[in-house]
Amino acid sequence: MHFSDEFEKRYAEMVGHYPTKRSILVPSLLYAQDEVGYLSDEVIAELAQRCELTQLEVRNVISYYSMLRMKPAGKYNVQVCTNISCLIRGGEEIYDHCKKKLGIGHKQVTKDGMFSLEEVECIGACSWAPAMQVNYDFHENLTDEGVDKILAEYKAKG
Ligand code: FES
Repeated sequence: MHFSDEFEKRYAEMVGHYPTKRSILVPSLLYAQDEVGYLSDEVIAELAQRCELTQLEVRNVISYYSMLRMKPAGKYNVQVCTNISCLIRGGEEIYDHCKKKLGIGHKQVTKDGMFSLEEVECIGACSWAPAMQVNYDFHENLTDEGVDKILAEYKAKG
């Protein structure tokens, strides 16, 4: 498995900051996912070996965190929160609107590979509910019209 020089630089820095190799598993998984697009069998095997863990232990960690994925996502991964604060302020309706607008359901990818959709738990933007996250960008105080505008902007970026 070959990662980029940038990944290797980050990895080397992290190794020096933590007392055990297993402590850097989650950030390593995130960096690898950003680079490869998802956590393939090859990535899992490589990071298990580097962090002195079994592949099963790595898979268990991946299954715990909703932001980690073992299948490719769309270029723009739309994560809509339907947890309590967002639920009260229309989060489920926003999620339903996204499903209709994109024509896909939970953890599915549009045919053109542009968008994927996920219903997620709290993303830490409760004060500005309802909220969603697209890759690393937060979008808050959502309305159906606002969602349409946001999705159109991502689509225009290509
Ligand atoms: S409940 Fe939706 S961001 Fe916290």
